[in-house]
Amino acid sequence: MAAFKIAVVVGSIRRDSINKKLAQALVKLGAPALDLQIVRIDDLPLYNQDDEGNLPASVVRFKSEIGAADGVLFVTPEHSRSIPAALKNAIDWGARPWGKNSWTGKVAAVTGASPGAISTALAQQHLRQILGAQGIVLSGGEAYIQFKPELIGADGAIADESAKGFLKSFLDQFAALVGKHVKIAA
Ligand code: FNR
Repeated sequence: MAAFKIAVVVGSIRRDSINKKLAQALVKLGAPALDLQIVRIDDLPLYNQDDEGNLPASVVRFKSEIGAADGVLFVTPEHSRSIPAALKNAIDWGARPWGKNSWTGKVAAVTGASPGAISTALAQQHLRQILGAQGIVLSGGEAYIQFKPELIGADGAIADESAKGFLKSFLDQFAALVGKHVKIAA
């Protein structure tokens, strides 16, 4: 059976983002059951309803990448105990124009990393609330990752064996939900 196509939305647009590193490691860990591809959000303009009549090219690309995916994996930092503005901006573009919501009916999973002890718990909680309103089916799996440099090896894969097992089962749970959803939709 072909791999499920998963769009990975990273909530940080920072060059050396720990969440981007985590997302890249999850791309490796999820294969071959999941074909995870990181989609850009750093080129999306600040959402403005005035632009809805003539969508910027980056927005058209982003919406079509989300639309073509079987599921979406969000990997986000926490900013000021919520999600980063760049991620909210991407979600708003995905939700618009009215009647063309790219999120509706998608299956999604949420994770994220922070150096802090409670990781991204509050950001993920806010994100779940936002996504629920978009008609997204959320995976029950939770993964709050406290980032330490030794988590990811020089090869970009998860190096910590316990974190690797935990994240593999997080992705397996997501893949199972995507599988059920794709079967129902077919
Ligand atoms: C943070 N950081 C942070 N961390 C956290 O655990 N809870 C928080 O509320 C915040 N708030 C916050 C606000 C802003 C504006 C910044 C820049 C940072 C720290 C954050 O976890 C850290 O910078 C991570 O490295 C951000 O993730 P990326 O960009 O490396 O993926």
